Amino acid sequence: MRGRSQASPGQAEINPYRSIASGPAGRIGCHLRYFGEVDSTQRVAAEFARNGASQGTVIIAERQSAGRGRLSRTWHSPGGVNLYMTVILRPRMPLAEVSQLSLVAGVAVAQALETIAPGLVALKWPNDIWLRQRKAGGIIAEAVTDAAHGLLCVLLGIGLNLNLGSKDIPPELSGKATSVLIATGRKCDRVQLAASLFNLLDLRFKEAEAGGFSAVRKVYERYFALSGRKVTVSDGRMATTGIVRGIDADGALILETGNGLNRILTGDVSLEGAYD
Ligand code: BTN
Repeated sequence: MRGRSQASPGQAEINPYRSIASGPAGRIGCHLRYFGEVDSTQRVAAEFARNGASQGTVIIAERQSAGRGRLSRTWHSPGGVNLYMTVILRPRMPLAEVSQLSLVAGVAVAQALETIAPGLVALKWPNDIWLRQRKAGGIIAEAVTDAAHGLLCVLLGIGLNLNLGSKDIPPELSGKATSVLIATGRKCDRVQLAASLFNLLDLRFKEAEAGGFSAVRKVYERYFALSGRKVTVSDGRMATTGIVRGIDADGALILETGNGLNRILTGDVSLEGAYD
């Protein structure tokens, strides 16, 4: 699916990503749908998925009017500077393992950014992308299920602040958010970055399909920002404070507390001395 976007009425924006939609069926980016503006690429991808869009289809929007983050947060999505995309995945895996896909995607994102921001990239478990200890990107994995078939697909959303300038960071994100431009002083080529990200996502998902999260764990650990740090993890019901001792083979956070080692499967991490 190439060419002009199906942008909002009256707009006909040229799709700058058209040259990177390629590869065999199932490859990440084999089909690419580009929109000038949508509410959320997650919502649009859900619609495509319901209508049968295949594994590897990517929805990209230039801007989002209601970008969604984890935990019902909004995702600041101005036009012309960043990357907002959702990949439709149709994995065969238990529902409980879906969250591992966002960790695997984090590895691909970190490696794609490494080439343009060498030495500056880190992963804040579960799936914040940091540049110089500020958030430059986030990943969300939403499972679509039905009672008869279980897991139908996963909508993997990735938002990356690429050429966002410091004056365009809204006051509520000041001191927390950054971009490639702010962290490196250099603008990046969004299409080139997206092409490299598609390749890395494809590679890392294939590895994880064969060997689970543990197949990419070593690379995750290379970027892991939390080792040895004191953190508080909240899951909405309770908060647990401890020292991070690592990530296990399933992608769970290993947290040492007064009660010994705890496996944390989900939650929101806040760190002493960093943004929450
Ligand atoms: C997070 O909270 O860190 C996850 C943010 C995910 C944002 C991306 S932008 C593209 C896709 N569409 C959305 O509405 N959200 C995700």
